[in-house]
Amino acid sequence: MRLTQAKIERIRRINAQTIHLELGLIDEALYRIKPGQTLLARLVDASGEPLAWDPYLREQWWPLGMTGQNTLLVERPANPRYEPGQYVSLLGPIGEPYRFSQRAKNILLIAYDADPTPLTIMLTWLLRNQLNVTLVLLGRARHYGTDHLSAEVEVIRGEDGLEWDDMVMTLGWADQLYAVVAPDDERQNFKALLDMLLDRKVVIPQRFAYGIFQPPTVCGTGACFACALRMSNSSRPRLTCTDGPAFDLLNVRLD
Ligand code: FES
Repeated sequence: MRLTQAKIERIRRINAQTIHLELGLIDEALYRIKPGQTLLARLVDASGEPLAWDPYLREQWWPLGMTGQNTLLVERPANPRYEPGQYVSLLGPIGEPYRFSQRAKNILLIAYDADPTPLTIMLTWLLRNQLNVTLVLLGRARHYGTDHLSAEVEVIRGEDGLEWDDMVMTLGWADQLYAVVAPDDERQNFKALLDMLLDRKVVIPQRFAYGIFQPPTVCGTGACFACALRMSNSSRPRLTCTDGPAFDLLNVRLD
C-alpha cells in the first residue's frame, strides 16, 4: 500500500446519480489494481495539503481499472465538488481482490437498498472472462440507471423488499453471488439476505454467497480494528480493510 497523488483529468456522468472520474498521473503501483480493491481518497491542493473543508475520514473510492491511456477510472456518486484539474491523495490499494470460483460460469450480483458501485466495477472483468452476469437491483438500488452498462448484462429490477420475478430460477442459475446492502445496519441486512437464500435454496454451499462489507474505513492498514468482523468459524476477527471487502456470508457472524 502506498500514499500517492493523482489528478482528475476528466469527469463523465453515467446516470442521474453517478459519475466516472478519470484520474491521471497514476502511480505505476496502482496499474494492476483489481476488482474489489479500493482506494482511500481525499481531495488536496497542488502541494498535497488537504482542502479546508476536507472530511476527517478519507472516502473509499472504487476503481474500475486502468484505461488504455494510463488513467484510472473510478466510479463515484455525482457531486459538484469534483472538477477536472483537482488533485487527489490516494492511499491504496486497500483489501483483497474478489475471488471468483474457477468453475463459476454464472454470476449473480444483488444490490439491496445500496449503491451498486462495488458490483458494477467488476462487470468489465467478468464479461472479458466470458462469464454470464445478472444484476438485481432492489429497494433504492433500483433507481440506478443502467444505460451505460453492456447489453450483455441482464438487469432485473425488483421492489422494495428482497424479492423479484423468477427469483427461484435466478438463484438456481447462479454459481456464485455477490451482494451489497444498505450500510446503516449492514449485518442485519446481510442476515435478511442470507435468510432469504436459505428459504429459497435447499443447500447453500461454501464460497457461493459473498457479502461486500463497507464499514467506515479509518486507517485502511489493519491497525485500528474499526472494520473488524466476527467470524462464525474462527475466534479471530477478520478485517474488512485487509482481508475483505468480500466475505463468504456463511462464515460471518451476522447476529
Ligand atoms: S480500517 Fe483500521 S483496521 Fe480496518
